Amino acid sequence: MQLSKDLIQNLNEQLNRELYAQYFYLVIASYFFEKDLDGFGEFFLKQSQEEGEHAMRLFHYLMEKGAPFHPLPLEIPPKNYESPLSCFQTAREYEEKISLSYYNLLKKARDLGEFDVEEFLWWYIREQREEEALMETWIARLSHAGNDPAALLLLDKEARKLAKASDS
Ligand SMILES: [Fe+2]
Ligand SMILES: [Fe+2]
Repeated sequence: MQLSKDLIQNLNEQLNRELYAQYFYLVIASYFFEKDLDGFGEFFLKQSQEEGEHAMRLFHYLMEKGAPFHPLPLEIPPKNYESPLSCFQTAREYEEKISLSYYNLLKKARDLGEFDVEEFLWWYIREQREEEALMETWIARLSHAGNDPAALLLLDKEARKLAKASDS
């Protein structure tokens, strides 16, 4: 079944949001590498790569449905962060925004009786739940660490381990 113009536009917008997330996490990764917190840097590189994969999943869906890909402008992500904690807080805020955009689209697909689109979107709903929880965990850890440099270095090590573990 052909997708409506409106839904095609919405799916292209989601793809753009995922590409923005990829770009955004690259900026955060650079923040950490510049501060010699390479573990967190690796963590955000990994997140960035995953966001690219989320965009590709949407791209392949559009192609599968014989729907056009519309290139849209990419915004420039913010570059100035005051602390590691604020990086994760900004990331969580963006993840929540993305989740909301998927909820709205899923509701629309359901109202239109577009069950194939709805089924496709469920994967993203689950993925968003995991990503929000992941950011939340790191926000809690960094809040506990406070201004203790030794604790921050320990968490940096943990972040590197996590980035490596999800590689395999
Ligand atoms: Fe994503
Ligand atoms: Fe994400």
